[in-house]
Amino acid sequence: MSLKEIALTLLALFGLVAVGNALRCNCTNCEKTSYECETDGACMASTYFNQGKEQHVRICIDRDNLVPPGQPFYCLSAEGLLNTHCCYVDYCNSIEVPVPTKEGDWSGSASSWGPVELVAVIAGPVFLLCVLLMVGVFLFQYHQRAYSHRQRLEVEDPSCDHLYLAKDKTLQDLIYDMSTSGSGSGLPLFVQRTVARTIVLQEIIGKGRFGEVWRGKWRGGDVAVKIFSSREERSWFREAEIYQTIMLRHENILGFIAADNKDNGTWTQLWLVSDYHEHGSLFDYLNRYSVTIEGMIKLALSAASGLAHLHMEILGTQGKPGIAHRDLKSKNILVKKNGMCAIADLGLAVRHESITDTIDIAPNQRVGTKRYMAPEVLDETINMKHFDSFKCADIYALGLVYWEIARRCNAGGIHEEYQLPYYDLVPSDPAIEEMRKVVCDQKLRPNVPNWWQSYESLRVMGKIMRECWYANGAARLTALRIKKTLSQLSVEEDVKM
Ligand SMILES: *[C@@H]1O[C@H](CO)[C@@H](O)[C@H](O)[C@H]1NC(C)=O
Repeated sequence: MSLKEIALTLLALFGLVAVGNALRCNCTNCEKTSYECETDGACMASTYFNQGKEQHVRICIDRDNLVPPGQPFYCLSAEGLLNTHCCYVDYCNSIEVPVPTKEGDWSGSASSWGPVELVAVIAGPVFLLCVLLMVGVFLFQYHQRAYSHRQRLEVEDPSCDHLYLAKDKTLQDLIYDMSTSGSGSGLPLFVQRTVARTIVLQEIIGKGRFGEVWRGKWRGGDVAVKIFSSREERSWFREAEIYQTIMLRHENILGFIAADNKDNGTWTQLWLVSDYHEHGSLFDYLNRYSVTIEGMIKLALSAASGLAHLHMEILGTQGKPGIAHRDLKSKNILVKKNGMCAIADLGLAVRHESITDTIDIAPNQRVGTKRYMAPEVLDETINMKHFDSFKCADIYALGLVYWEIARRCNAGGIHEEYQLPYYDLVPSDPAIEEMRKVVCDQKLRPNVPNWWQSYESLRVMGKIMRECWYANGAARLTALRIKKTLSQLSVEEDVKM
């Protein structure tokens, strides 16, 4: 037996003796239990900024909340906002997690190696390797055993969570606190969870392929709760991930509040909590009401502003990646009280990673709603390696949404009934093949009536639509261009935004 083997055996034995009961962690807000808590899951330590002050939090995370496996939601850090560390050994979260640094600071650290460090690295590689190996093997075995021995379910310790949820704070206050002090990607995850768990569901307001949408109450205010069925865990995770992209918050993008996965023993409930807008979707709104010229410009301009913000890549520490929606339609846009749009349903969106010029997930060919698919998506000629292709496909769909809005515009006493795009050319729930024949082969587009020419606003809207519908994606307008044109129109027509 070599020395190393003896050491390993001893370490393994030690591991066996030390486990078998619950994991104990430091807990910043557990006065009653002398700042400790017990769990069957993990210890978590987290550091972030709140109102300019550094906040250190240490809590227990129950095993049931360690999902998805391998990359638990509660253990993720948010770049520049929140640094989180999960570990599985008693009191291992006693450490000081470093303050979140902004993106970019990382790149500097590699090149700042001085000669001393270099010498140290060259002089001691063997020693370092041995130590790392020993520690690694020790931790691995300890963790494995600790994990498999823990079966006991713990009653959640509620005292740990209420740290940042002073009784008098409203949701707006909370989000405001976070977005002014952090980088605007939202609430810390454990606050999200506490918010989600104190919502009282009121009534169901919609159903979709992923699950249901409910109206809920939190501290007297309305919130919307999208409940995913448990087999839609991936969609839930993806949508939460996209909404928490740094600097995504914008008045014309649905305001995200919280994501939560609640295990009630038999199944997991996956919640996505967002702002509630009583008008519902643009589709419902246009079915119910016609709009004035001013109303039309407001809807169109705000939708373009939201899409322009989504598409735009902002560089720098307070930046955001470019995002393409991929399922833009009137049912996925909400109408706010002030008559402006908020783009929602980001579950199919893709992000552009500009450093590597790649897309953050492997995009499958044809997702989204067939009726709104751009010609290049229908005939599969879209260049999926190129992020801009997805933006161009969004613009085509935006053009169709504009057509739906403009038809409902009441100018000189005339307006048309609500219809979906291509209502006269394809059946309801059309097949891809049926759409492809109409849009690609026959090159048909929704009808732009001649009488729109007699009203400046409708004329401009008609022109924008045509320039959104070109068969060649690259020839279409950009969201920013549309936003500028409509801003100009809103000034000419004296629309108050
Ligand atoms: C964590 O708990 C241990 C044991 O109670 C204690 O010795 C240690 O000081 C604690 N660490 C922090 C940072 O509070």
